[in-house]
Amino acid sequence: MATYNTGFSKFDRSQRIKYITDNGSLTTEEATGLYSYDAGEPLVQQVFGEMIENYIGNFPLPMGILPQLLINGERFMVPFVTEESSVVAAAAKAAKFWATRGGFRAEVVSMTKKGQVHFTWNGAPHLIQALFPNIQLKLLQETEALTKQMNQRGGGITAIQLLDKRAELTDYYQLDLSFETADAMGANFINSCLETIAAALQKLPELNSGESKVEVIMAILSNYTPDCTVKCKVECPVEELSGWGKELTGQAFATKFKQAVDIANLDIPRAVTHNKGIMNGVDALLLATGNDCRATAAAVHSYAARSGTYKSLSTIQLTENMFRYEITLPLSVGTAGGITRIHPMVKKALTVMNNPDARQLMMIAAASGMASNFSAIASLVTTGIQRGHMRMHLSNVLNQLQADLPEREKAQHHFRGKTVTYSAVEAYINEIRRTL
Ligand code: MEV
Repeated sequence: MATYNTGFSKFDRSQRIKYITDNGSLTTEEATGLYSYDAGEPLVQQVFGEMIENYIGNFPLPMGILPQLLINGERFMVPFVTEESSVVAAAAKAAKFWATRGGFRAEVVSMTKKGQVHFTWNGAPHLIQALFPNIQLKLLQETEALTKQMNQRGGGITAIQLLDKRAELTDYYQLDLSFETADAMGANFINSCLETIAAALQKLPELNSGESKVEVIMAILSNYTPDCTVKCKVECPVEELSGWGKELTGQAFATKFKQAVDIANLDIPRAVTHNKGIMNGVDALLLATGNDCRATAAAVHSYAARSGTYKSLSTIQLTENMFRYEITLPLSVGTAGGITRIHPMVKKALTVMNNPDARQLMMIAAASGMASNFSAIASLVTTGIQRGHMRMHLSNVLNQLQADLPEREKAQHHFRGKTVTYSAVEAYINEIRRTL
């Protein structure tokens, strides 16, 4: 039984790899394969090796492109990174469909982010309230060195509020701060400001004398970003929806589509999957651009539950003649800072899109999410999704079976229009191999 080695983080890469082969099931030969995904350029490889702790190797994922996403009249080529077959194909199909129907209309509503200093204070409540205007100025002064550059880029701390939370927890108060972070997602900037303010708060003589004392519990940004939102919509005359597939008339398609969205608004199990379909596109773009998908997932799903019930992130309006579909997403994303300047593929992804700013990236992400979701619902209410999924799934199964080119061609031909399962493909390939 392997013992836990507390010196692991001090090891160099080859020692770490040796450790995991000595203490686990990975063979030495398999472990050598960890080097095969190293970047060709030493400096780039160094970036990967220093990006996280306990690094052992790179983990490639495929990057694909939506060739045309029309947003507010401007065409974007959009990079997607995803492990899921058919996400790119689905979004690209919807993007193409809407490109001939006016495209996506997107608008950033606001880009305010928040963070809080959580603390207790045992003094007289009216006193802290009375002192707050003065305290606030002192605290902001403490952050000047940090905010100087951000102010020059049009961002900074835009508000600071004292919230009395004693009804919820003994002596508990919050400093609730609002930030604008220009083209950065801003997590480091926000957290640095909050920690500086927290340290200053604990030292303020007016709050820390005699028996009264500030105890900071924590200082951290909030990933709940309901004030950092982007709206995106598509609309067209109902009859133009007949262009999606041959299965339904425009009217029948619109009616079923609306029913599907209505269901996502009234049924939580469906709402979660519906919203996951939106995030297929959003996350694929955010991964490609080096953004924090965990933060946006937390934001988006909590936003979907802001009414007290988890609901669809999209809404639909169907009149006799017009189909209008809209989405609002809270997306705190960046095109500067983080790994945007150091990750070679992120740099390429941003260049492919003509180096958007954060505001544009929010719009591209919302349109990508909408394209993914539109395609999913359109397939669900017509052919079902398995047809598209399975075409891509076939390639994955053939790769697992290590099929060669002739076998692949035969299988592609054989499974056209048929149901693809692992066992069916395996049986077919075995049959070909037997008859050779
Ligand atoms: C699959 O990745 C996403 C879908 O399940 C989304 C949906 O059901 O709306 C197809």
